[in-house]
Amino acid sequence: MAAKGKGYGKVILFGEHFAVYGLPAIASAISDHTLAIVEPGSKGLEFIDERPSVEGYKETKKQEIQRELDAITKVMSIDAAKTPLKITLTGNLKAASGIGASAALATSIARALSNHFDLKFNDAQINEVAFEAEKAGSGTPSGIDNTVSTFGGMISFEKNMKGGKNEIEHLKLKVPLRIVLASTGISQETKKVVEDIRRAKEKNPEKFLKIFKDYGHLYEEALDALAKGDLKKTGKFMSHNQKLLEEIGLSCPEIEELVETAVRHGALGAKLTGTGRGGLVMCLADSEASQDKVFNAIRKKGFEAEKTELGARAKQ
Ligand code: MEV
Repeated sequence: MAAKGKGYGKVILFGEHFAVYGLPAIASAISDHTLAIVEPGSKGLEFIDERPSVEGYKETKKQEIQRELDAITKVMSIDAAKTPLKITLTGNLKAASGIGASAALATSIARALSNHFDLKFNDAQINEVAFEAEKAGSGTPSGIDNTVSTFGGMISFEKNMKGGKNEIEHLKLKVPLRIVLASTGISQETKKVVEDIRRAKEKNPEKFLKIFKDYGHLYEEALDALAKGDLKKTGKFMSHNQKLLEEIGLSCPEIEELVETAVRHGALGAKLTGTGRGGLVMCLADSEASQDKVFNAIRKKGFEAEKTELGARAKQ
């Protein structure tokens, strides 16, 4: 019998990259998920990737995916040479930079393997495995992607820079957030971009210190706006966050075109989400009609887009 496991996609509303340096960030699961199916195999580890994806994603991420797979089996003490396995990935999460596809891959496979071998891993253990996979795949991740992919919902996340437990707070939304997720069509390797930003920070610590300080205030205000259900302010802060990300070199012409198009067609705010330098742009709308308008404007420009609402609870 085949064993299954799910891992949810995510968006980061505030604080990608800043989270790597211990600043608090806000992320939410989306209902789209990756589904891993584990079955007995015939030789070693057979990996079949049937996930829908943007063009070029699987090629760009090939090595990252292999490192993740190796880390998952190692941490879970699974030896496919002795117990051949076939792992198939499917699900409705379209793999793209920024959507947490690598974390969803890791959590779904960890859950499916736990089910297959009857290991009875709880969420905290699944999260640990997924974090090890993320580390192997993408260098020095904050842990925000695997946490939100494992637990679902919307969270405030603060990495413990001393290596202890990260601070995670589950957030309740007063009103649903209607989002248009627009794709630049560009895939990036998170590891490379994170390393690049680290180098830029080392070269110019004063600049980063100032931006981190700005972001610290922005995070507090954004948390307050979300708690009050103030969509207008939430959108404004998202656009402010985008400016800070632009300043540290995470934007690109496609991101800027998408942000500009969204705002011109009534979005309350828009920003890149996740790795940056491509990937996805999230645009906040204040109504269903406005969400449709932003979506149509982006599609008209020839970009892929989808509509979603934030705050999906993870159900395994
Ligand atoms: C990637 O989805 C988010 C980054 O902040 C990296 C991380 O926090 O691990 C770029």
